[in-house]
Amino acid sequence: MNTAAPPPPLVRVSRSSINEEDVAAVAATLRRAFLGMGTEVDAFEKELAQFLGGERQVMCVSTGTAALHLAVQACGLGPGDEVLAPALTFVASFQAISATGATPVACDVLGDSGCLDPADAARRVTARTKAIMPVHYASGPGRLEDVYALARQHGLRVIEDAAHAFGCLHNGVKVGAVGDVVCFSFDGIKNITAGEGGAVVTSDPLVAERVRNARLLGVEKDTEKRYAGQRSWEFDVIAQGWRCHMSNINAALGRSQLRRLPGEFAPRRVQLARRYGELLDGLPRLRHLNLDYGPIVPHIFPVFISDGCRDTVREALRAENIESGIHYKPSHLLSFYGGGRARLPVAEELYAQMLSLPLHYELTDAEQDRVVEVLRGCLTP
Ligand SMILES: Cc1ncc(COP(=O)(O)O)c(C=O)c1O
Repeated sequence: MNTAAPPPPLVRVSRSSINEEDVAAVAATLRRAFLGMGTEVDAFEKELAQFLGGERQVMCVSTGTAALHLAVQACGLGPGDEVLAPALTFVASFQAISATGATPVACDVLGDSGCLDPADAARRVTARTKAIMPVHYASGPGRLEDVYALARQHGLRVIEDAAHAFGCLHNGVKVGAVGDVVCFSFDGIKNITAGEGGAVVTSDPLVAERVRNARLLGVEKDTEKRYAGQRSWEFDVIAQGWRCHMSNINAALGRSQLRRLPGEFAPRRVQLARRYGELLDGLPRLRHLNLDYGPIVPHIFPVFISDGCRDTVREALRAENIESGIHYKPSHLLSFYGGGRARLPVAEELYAQMLSLPLHYELTDAEQDRVVEVLRGCLTP
């Protein structure tokens, strides 16, 4: 007879939250049986534009990675061009740049925010530098004003990787409402999900037009036809395109999730992050980002554990059936992006210390208490 106690219930580090309205929205779209890109995507784009204040052009695509890739391409970048990006990001940022043939140049980050260090980036500007891709790490903006100042000084495009930052405010203005080109992700675990999805947001009509065409194999004006329920039979193609538009199914889910953001997702994520802050403050050897939660709606909650204790804590969480994450292995350490030839001390130190604690809409206070209890057990003398 097996007398071992059952493991405690699993605490997920992140997860989607799908309710009956989400299911009904997707089911209604399935029943209409127009599943490709059409009126649902059109409506989602309009609602996103309205959410951002009504002035911006919004183009939905299949993933956040595709949004970044098409944004870099639409800014006219390709082989021979360099794009400055923080090393501490999901590899999607680097892949999106290299997919165009341009070269991602890894920059160090700031220890207090994990975001791009504008001074380090400035030192890496060359005659080939054409753009800069700041990442809203853990949903914080970092020193975005300094990034834009650096871009103005050198005539660079700014493509914001705001995959973590949908629904956040910066200086009282929604992320995406201003800025050169801003890209969002709506993958399964983001602040809102479309299942998979992403969006490019800009006020630049040329970038917008190029993204619209490039997402549909470069077929000119295909978007307008599809939104009118038609197909393009006679058309021209003047640039390389990809097949990375959004489907009506994903858009239906995205629309439903957007409705849930202000009343459900945003307040709960903010509440959980503030609660982590209160419960963890004062614990030795542990630091958290201490962001301005409220305006910032956190997608992840990384903490930084010093004295080589990170792996012990991670193991202790695992033993209690609690997942944790590492956001992220810095991209300059990956073989394809130099395998650590460059040394970026701050990003590397954060990498050695980081541990992302569970954070998602459905995380309960009791689950959060279990997480904190393990941390206290490991870290208090
Ligand atoms: C910082 C960052 N950039 C880009 C992406 C790519 O988004 P997607 O997963 O929608 O392709 C992600 C997704 O996790 C991300 O965290």
